[in-house]
Amino acid sequence: MNTIKTIAFVLFMAVFQVTGLSAKTVGNTINITPQPQSITVSNGTCSVKGAKIICDKSFGEKTVAAVDKFAAALSLSCGTSKGGCRISFSQDSGLKPENYTIKVTRRGIKVTAPDRNGVLYAIATLKQMMPVAIYGTEPDEDADWTIPCCTIVDGPRFAYRGMHMDPCRHFWSIEETKRYIDIMAVYKLNRLHWHLTEDQGWRIEIKSLPRLTEVGAWRNGTMVGHNWASDDGIPYGGFYTQEEIKEVIEYADERGITIIPEVDLPGHMVAALAAYPELGCFGGPYEVRKSWGIANEVLCPGKETTFEFLEKVLGEIADLFPSEYIHIGGDECPKVKWENCPDCQARIKELGLEDDERYTAEQKLQNYVTARVQAFLATKGKKVIGWDEILEGDELAPGTTVMSWRGTIGGIEAAKKGLDVIMSPYTYCYFDFCQSRTAEEEPLCIGGFIDLKTIYDYDPYEGMEPGTEHHILGPQCNLWTEYIATPEHLEYMLLPRMLGLSEVAWTNPELKDYDTFLKGVREHQYKVLDAMHYNYRRY
Ligand code: ACM
Ligand code: ZN
Repeated sequence: MNTIKTIAFVLFMAVFQVTGLSAKTVGNTINITPQPQSITVSNGTCSVKGAKIICDKSFGEKTVAAVDKFAAALSLSCGTSKGGCRISFSQDSGLKPENYTIKVTRRGIKVTAPDRNGVLYAIATLKQMMPVAIYGTEPDEDADWTIPCCTIVDGPRFAYRGMHMDPCRHFWSIEETKRYIDIMAVYKLNRLHWHLTEDQGWRIEIKSLPRLTEVGAWRNGTMVGHNWASDDGIPYGGFYTQEEIKEVIEYADERGITIIPEVDLPGHMVAALAAYPELGCFGGPYEVRKSWGIANEVLCPGKETTFEFLEKVLGEIADLFPSEYIHIGGDECPKVKWENCPDCQARIKELGLEDDERYTAEQKLQNYVTARVQAFLATKGKKVIGWDEILEGDELAPGTTVMSWRGTIGGIEAAKKGLDVIMSPYTYCYFDFCQSRTAEEEPLCIGGFIDLKTIYDYDPYEGMEPGTEHHILGPQCNLWTEYIATPEHLEYMLLPRMLGLSEVAWTNPELKDYDTFLKGVREHQYKVLDAMHYNYRRY
């Protein structure tokens, strides 16, 4: 080797030693959750203390506002707005949606992204490379505000990265809902499935049907723990006004999160029946439920008034929520009332529905409800999502999205039929399940066992027929709140399992490694959660 070649080789080896070829290689030094698709570390650091931050106007006002907010947070947290490097955000329409790149050199940081979410995720990543004061409201001037020189090329594995919230079994204030959204945004989740109606409480103001919240939002007690035999007798309830709903939608949107509202129908409707008993098969009276489980009392699809009711509810909801999807529930709808209801039976006859070897006429009647609601929402420019029970009965209309919760079978079948799917199997994705195999060691939980590793190890393509994977929009975890009554408990059930979900939803499987992930959670993410004052379970 001549001298020049020797120097070049030595330099190459020096750089190679600090250069990760994959994100996993550098998981020990840069703790970012969810793990980015690629990080390459090089020599040197860049000081962001007092950084000057600029953003292409071409991104639009909302993106510029998000970058300004980041700039304000940075100058507050590091205690100065002068003297640091330059951080630039440039638009690159050639990148895929929600992707971003970050190039950190000694001189400054260059971010590129195609859209607002890409910018938000670049900011989320940069914040994870800074002292945790960036998440708080107090400066930490003595912290090390330098970040390692590196190149990050990143983007999500799945377009749909969802978390569900249940304000019906227990009610969550607007403030707590915003905290839920805040922490979703830190970990790059982008869909909040808001389960707004239930047997135990109707939680959204519908202006044309005031009794839904005057009556349906309140119950006369709540069962205590797992004791089904009695309740506490304490009146309980609450609802969100449409103004509050708009505030939450906007808050979520600023953080890159779309809210998908759910009106669970035709089952899980006892609160609505308590308000409008004529919507049931036999007219009631009905009482907003005080205990959990599945009610036999459901909407009567034999009566036209039921569809007039649904169109009023869904019409207001479609006008309120910008989401392209409305979730119409469809789960756990017993058919015993329909079997005995003259109106339902007349409807079955009129439609010519008959039992066959796979489905009963009543299951096909639910399918009729789904199709009518779907057709109505289509006139409002909305697509529907339903729990996997909507697969029962006749063929679903094209464009229906199935949320697979009773395991993965429903989702696998739906994808084979060419329908889109959100994977939310209770075997991996139910955060009301206990985080220990010994339930007594945990705060109240529904039973079962799902810990951080269970959700982390989930692959939404599990069991899929090859060639149908493109129908999986992404995963979602559900946090039902029958057994969760306080914000502290809610956060304990959410965190850090939601971080496991974030990596399932974001990171390509070949980069995932539970031990590396857990180390990052323990060494860095707990500090983030502490700085934001969340309650969480330690692993
Ligand atoms: C569900 O858990 N009943 C969708
Ligand atoms: Zn009926």
